[in-house]
Amino acid sequence: MLLSIESSCDDSSLALTRLEDCKLLWHAKISQEAEHSAHGGVVPELASRLHAHNLPLLLQKAKAFLGGKTPFAPLKAIALTTRPGLAITLLEGLMMAKALALSLNLPLISVDHLKGHLYSLFINQPCARFPLSVLLVSGGHTLIIEARDPTNMGIIAQSLDDSLGESFDKVARMLGLGYPGGPVVEKLACLCPAGEEYPFPLPLRQKSALAFSFSGLKNAVRLAVAKAQPLSQELQAQICAGFQTTACAHLLHKVRAYLQSARVERFGLVGGVSANTYIRTQLENLCAEFGIELLLAPLEFCTDNAAMIGRAGVMGYQHAEFSDVHTLDISPHTEIPQSADSIL
Ligand code: KG4
Ligand code: ZN
Repeated sequence: MLLSIESSCDDSSLALTRLEDCKLLWHAKISQEAEHSAHGGVVPELASRLHAHNLPLLLQKAKAFLGGKTPFAPLKAIALTTRPGLAITLLEGLMMAKALALSLNLPLISVDHLKGHLYSLFINQPCARFPLSVLLVSGGHTLIIEARDPTNMGIIAQSLDDSLGESFDKVARMLGLGYPGGPVVEKLACLCPAGEEYPFPLPLRQKSALAFSFSGLKNAVRLAVAKAQPLSQELQAQICAGFQTTACAHLLHKVRAYLQSARVERFGLVGGVSANTYIRTQLENLCAEFGIELLLAPLEFCTDNAAMIGRAGVMGYQHAEFSDVHTLDISPHTEIPQSADSIL
């Protein structure tokens, strides 16, 4: 089996995946949401210290799950997120992976976090299906990735400024709702009756470019909040619903343009924001209109987790993509290249 480690942002997570059939045998995660909530967002220094505390706790749990006198004997390799993410949190995962690899004499498999999200669609499934295009919406990214096969992927579109997850978090912060913002903004948006959403302008409406932008929408929310003081709960709900429907309409506008211009067999929705029920439903409807199959990850694997890193790691194991323990390093950047026809 494969041990996988995720520490790219504010979730410490470990998982054990069976190599033969990709069955997820065990996984655990310690989220740092409570600690970062007071600051309205992730504080890298704090996140790094918490990983240093939490990763060994999770390893103890993995050890207990494996049991016996030599609990780590069934391990064949260690997969870990090495990029993209916060350098000082990625380093915590790298440190643990290297210590384990050296002491247990195991190979290391380096996993790109964005590919990890893509493979969240195939946790517990022995066969990943390609070609596949995915919309990745998370705290760090808003991208369309075209994956022709496991070794041939390209970024087709991305955000010109902020990511959608970060925008959900900022909107929540403006409304004093804590961190992470996505779940609480979604919950409040549900309280707003249909048709009463606060009206915000659709980003990049006139632009044909395949790209996303959320900074203007975020600013429009900021102005609406400033104008509406003191905020009633009713108005809060209207602002949350207005933000969510406008952000989603923008996603759909661009995904529609993509589906019209490319030959897409199947489409996936991944990343933390893909836990949003409204966005899932809207994208389901869009894909149905195009007769395209939509793949969705189970809700528990939308936000960061080591199970998806393990699933991606199995692909690396099958292709013997092992890294040198002495030279393997972290990077804040993804290894997935821009496609030639993307605009950035
Ligand atoms: O994928 P993820 O765990 O971390 C990154 O790779 O960035 O995504 C975290 C993001 C946060 O910004 C959080 O607010 C957002 O996912 N999120 C949601 C929901 N659940 C989490 N956004 C909208 N609706 C949700 N239900
Ligand atoms: Zn992520």
